[in-house]
Amino acid sequence: MMTKADVLLGLQWGDEGKGKIVDVLTPHYDLIARFQGGPNAGHSLEFEGVKHVLHTIPSGIFHPDKMNLIGNGVVIDPIILAREIQKLAEKGVRVQDNLSISRKAHLILPTHRVLDAASEAAKGHAKIGSTLKGIGPTYMDKTGRNGLRVGDTEAHDFYARYEFLRNKHIELIRLYEFDDFNLPDMEKEWFDAIQAIQSIPRCDSEYEVNSYLGQNKNVLAEGAQGTLLDIDFGSYPFVTSSNTIAAGACTGLGIAPNRIGEVYGIFKAYCTRVGSGPFPTELFDETGERMRQIGKEFGSTTGRPRRCGWLDIPALKYATMINGVTRLIMMKADVLDQFNKIQVCTAYKINGKLIEHIPFESKDITIEPIYTEMNGWNTDLTALNNIEQLPDAFLKYVHFIEQQVGVPIFILSVGPDRKQTIMRHAL
Ligand code: GDP
Ligand code: IMO
Ligand code: MG
Repeated sequence: MMTKADVLLGLQWGDEGKGKIVDVLTPHYDLIARFQGGPNAGHSLEFEGVKHVLHTIPSGIFHPDKMNLIGNGVVIDPIILAREIQKLAEKGVRVQDNLSISRKAHLILPTHRVLDAASEAAKGHAKIGSTLKGIGPTYMDKTGRNGLRVGDTEAHDFYARYEFLRNKHIELIRLYEFDDFNLPDMEKEWFDAIQAIQSIPRCDSEYEVNSYLGQNKNVLAEGAQGTLLDIDFGSYPFVTSSNTIAAGACTGLGIAPNRIGEVYGIFKAYCTRVGSGPFPTELFDETGERMRQIGKEFGSTTGRPRRCGWLDIPALKYATMINGVTRLIMMKADVLDQFNKIQVCTAYKINGKLIEHIPFESKDITIEPIYTEMNGWNTDLTALNNIEQLPDAFLKYVHFIEQQVGVPIFILSVGPDRKQTIMRHAL
């Protein structure tokens, strides 16, 4: 019998705490593989008093005996990857030994970044709030069959192919009347970085992953962003350009759907969103500001303040359905430690009607969240490390969510450190 690959992904708008939990779960796995997204991701993890932020490299990298893979579904900016490798080297982590890259992963060109900026500038108030890492334009070239892939860097005509695509981009940038960039400098840095990342082994990752599964080794697919930013099921057009959902692990790594095992769905005990787009439970008041300050809700990639609001159960149920979540993980409950009352949105009211599904269009309509009020726990959860110590009011919150969503919460995270993690069930 072949083992199945487990998937861990975000159920909200990203930044749920995927990096931390992948690091915590890595001892149970042999291979950690990113399947989509790119340097728009910022995955943080913390141990021994130091916080690390990863953008392209999987979050299993701090475990030297475990392999990490950047899958075909990921888009790579060599500059950012080379910088990540350098930073890790300074910390004594030699990634050459336990990281490999899919030859089929697409490259983010300097002009993809420029196109991202030009496109956002042209949208004005309707901008997506992109991280400006060139994600959208790179995936457009991938599906438009114009992209350059990691494996292409070894081809004799790589530079000619690069020039052909770059020249096309320059024409497009001209249409946008955008000139705020210095291409020669960007290109030099990019080609230097292409050289720098040659030290990382490349592979045909679909064979690699399936070979692990064939040998009964354990594989964890690490998602980036979150379900509500999915290109198909997120709040389009305020989404990213990849499939962030469980199905993305199949296409982004070459894992057959019947070889997917557990799906870990990770969510915060409240909600955050960075960038534009609908957010029904968003708080514009002092409570939202408190969440932002206590939760340190500022982007790991861009430093932008994150929008904050209460937990949204209809959205959580939707994400659980789309992904086939089998195990939930709740993060950052400690941020609510000092809140006397906690609201949970269980339905929406639109045009006077109560609904529990996610509406097709949420841009020009008013969505009123319907809340259930719960008591806060007024306890410092960060100091607790086993389930017996958890206060009753907190357990009520946990049970309420489980009952609403219909999936057990396996892991509770009560602080950013690896150790601040409470397992409720054996994995
Ligand atoms: P990711 O993109 O899903 O990996 O999440 P990010 O790393 O972008 O954002 C999560 C942030 O919350 C990081 O700064 C983490 O260090 C921090 N964090 C993770 N889990 C917890 C938790 O349980 N409690 C608190 N207070 N912070 C946490
Ligand atoms: P992790 O993996 C939170 C958001 C951006 C913007 C939209 C599109 O750390 O959870 P893009 O750069 O992809 O064109 O931006 O998606 N976004 C994220 N928000 N966490 C992320 O990643 C994100 N990656 C993209 O803010 O609204
Ligand atoms: Mg993040």
